[in-house]
Amino acid sequence: MISKAEFALRRKRLMAMMGSDSIAILPSASEMTRSRDTEYSFRQDSDFHYLCGFNEPEAVLILIPGRKHGDYIMFNRERDLVKETWHGRRAGQQGVMDKFNAADAFPVDDIDDILPGLMEGRETIYCAIGANKEFDERIIGWLSGASQGEIIDISHALHDFRLYKSASEIKLMRKAAEISAKAHIRAMEKARPGLYEYQIEAELLHEFATSGARFPAYNSIVASGDNACILHYVENESELKDGDLLMIDAGAEVDLYAADISRTFPVNGRFSEPQKIMYNWVLKAQLAAIETIKPGACWNAPHEAAVKILTKGLVEMGILKGKVSSLIKNEAYKAFYMHKTGHWLGLDVHDVGDYQVGGEPRVLEPGMVLTVEPGLYVPLNAKKVAKRWKGMGIRIEDDVLVTKNGFDVLSKNAPKTIPDIEAVMSKGN
Ligand code: GLY
Ligand code: MN
Ligand code: MN
Repeated sequence: MISKAEFALRRKRLMAMMGSDSIAILPSASEMTRSRDTEYSFRQDSDFHYLCGFNEPEAVLILIPGRKHGDYIMFNRERDLVKETWHGRRAGQQGVMDKFNAADAFPVDDIDDILPGLMEGRETIYCAIGANKEFDERIIGWLSGASQGEIIDISHALHDFRLYKSASEIKLMRKAAEISAKAHIRAMEKARPGLYEYQIEAELLHEFATSGARFPAYNSIVASGDNACILHYVENESELKDGDLLMIDAGAEVDLYAADISRTFPVNGRFSEPQKIMYNWVLKAQLAAIETIKPGACWNAPHEAAVKILTKGLVEMGILKGKVSSLIKNEAYKAFYMHKTGHWLGLDVHDVGDYQVGGEPRVLEPGMVLTVEPGLYVPLNAKKVAKRWKGMGIRIEDDVLVTKNGFDVLSKNAPKTIPDIEAVMSKGN
């Protein structure tokens, strides 16, 4: 849980950056229609959540540094007993002041009348420009009813704060990673030829929820055989075949914080010889990539380490021909390793934060969390590749916290060596 005090501290830091003549306007997420009058599960906007923790749609958070009657205001839905009977509870204005520390709260239906007055005299308007076109237009409308103001994108500063995780955020991310590791183990135990990918997805979701994480952080990828060569395969509809590998990329969400873990294992519980060889190249690349992580290292050091080993592996397996250094230079490896080795992780699975600072790759600092996820993908239709390697997609992905002295793998409980995976699978049913 993120405490009220921590949410207050986040707002305070943001307002200190904004300065005294400004106002920030941040909308909640909206409910999304799935079909006719049913909606997708509601997921709060990460920036909005970061600043207040209020989990309802149709809300707008306002920060007004230095305002005499309180610098934190919310526009949100009014209580309505009939609507609440049909659709669920609402905090209302009093609830937002009592439970979420807002100094003032107003019905969101009155925002057009009230907000221009609050914007009056504020020279800088901070908002997430471009994130929501419809909301941008509303801001311009409110602005024309107030004094002239300059609009500045709040995302850069806010996202830089979000890149550094606090102790309580790390605790939630560790929990998300531990629950996800349990889910990967359960998937290994349950997998066998004849099941369908979506049935393994069900095992993952079962473990997430049973362990206290109601939602996955993103749609689970359960990709057997050639399907694993589609990087974001989410159809999850094929039958698991004896002799194929199964690549799972799945992570739980805990209090909106994500885990993002990939593991690859044989459907029948035993790696074949070619599978062992290719798997061990990816594992070697992943371990070497993780080892580069420490304060002061460049964020792309893991990628460079992984590319070197994967390219060497591709040459030794006979999949690529030539000198490793030239194959790296002319990016020949990209035919079989076409993505980066990682990304920031946090409230969003592909979390916010710049990867470049002043044109240079960002330097790692304690509190940052990134994934390390090398892979090799050799589809059935690959040209000039021996048959034994075809139809394999292997990704191994962990969530890594940068610590004072190096790194801590939050997802370490998910087995990844061949003996550890085969041991787990031999215990399954
Ligand atoms: N799960 C998406 C990714 O690994 O980036
Ligand atoms: Mn990832
Ligand atoms: Mn992933």
